[in-house]
Amino acid sequence: MKRLPSKIARIGIVLLFLVLAACSDSNNDNGGQREAVGLAQAARQAGLAVGAAVNTDASSEQLAVTSREFTSVTAENAMKWGSLAPTSSSFNFSDADRLVDFAVANGQRLRGHTLFWHRLNGLPDWLADELNNSSDPAARLRELMVTHAATLVGRYAGQVTQWDVINEPLAAVGGDFDPENIFFQLLGEEYLDIALLQAHAADPSAELFINETFVEFQPVKFDSLIALAQRLLARGIPLHGLGLQGHFFVRAPDEAILRDQLLRIAALGLKVEITELDIPLPLFSSTPDPLAAQAQAYADVFNACLAVTLCSGITIWGIDDAHTWLDSFLAFTAPNRPLLFDETLQAKPAYDSVVKTLLTLPR
Ligand code: XIL
Repeated sequence: MKRLPSKIARIGIVLLFLVLAACSDSNNDNGGQREAVGLAQAARQAGLAVGAAVNTDASSEQLAVTSREFTSVTAENAMKWGSLAPTSSSFNFSDADRLVDFAVANGQRLRGHTLFWHRLNGLPDWLADELNNSSDPAARLRELMVTHAATLVGRYAGQVTQWDVINEPLAAVGGDFDPENIFFQLLGEEYLDIALLQAHAADPSAELFINETFVEFQPVKFDSLIALAQRLLARGIPLHGLGLQGHFFVRAPDEAILRDQLLRIAALGLKVEITELDIPLPLFSSTPDPLAAQAQAYADVFNACLAVTLCSGITIWGIDDAHTWLDSFLAFTAPNRPLLFDETLQAKPAYDSVVKTLLTLPR
């Protein structure tokens, strides 16, 4: 005869029941429209990598969401030159290593971000002095670039699938190279060749990208990016993809324009990814249901990518609305609430809309 459950076991069963009931309530948060399938599974079914940028100080709760919901990760800051190299002759890989170990343990794809970026926290503090004190700054910069690319790409060879080798080579507005870009100032366009060739030598299997910002609504800048890619390819330089960052804080995405841009990149034989997607809620403040409008904007981006075979992934620039770079970068519109999870790590309507889109348009 079976033994009756002890009092403790009965309390356990009741508690389990309460937890399950609470979970099923939260599953119905969005009017009962949550799909049975989560984001990671929907991404796999659709054949699209869906990633998140993970910061160095991510909490265990954020990491749990990341491992459950995303199939790709990018280091938000830990792999930038400024984060890795405290001096010109030393590296500190501990934060980057931790993230790589995390992604490998979860079977997630890794995007490496970024080898050479002259803005915000992209460069190490010592670089300007190092170049000023050199009798041949161009030669010194080339030497430092070669060491940096060889060391970083070499360290994660076989683990990091895609590298943003070059970040934001062009001016924020217009189609020229950024005149403030120290690499361009000293080495001209050849700085891209040096970087891409060295990265390729360090890991021939890695896919090498140029990652650019604010092209989605600037046809002149987009054309300039395409022309740059064409020149590199014509010179036989290893370039495998272009990243469009997708910081849609000036205007909400336009699906048709975005799809055309993705198609033009694919027509060069290059992969394309949306690498830093965020869509702030204040963009929709004049609409009756801003969260629904944001959800539709996310669906538009995913639809555009799913329509293009060579669009291989979309990375969201953060996990939850309590931790977004936009709240400092665009402090005057904070809280920007641009991500898929809210401040308490609950899935937003944008999450449901992305899952639904992935399930509707598998490739
Ligand atoms: C941002 C990070 O999110 C911030 O935490 C950091 O303070 C500055 O850089 N374009 C890029 C990213 O390519 O690396 C930037 O990330 C956001 C803009």
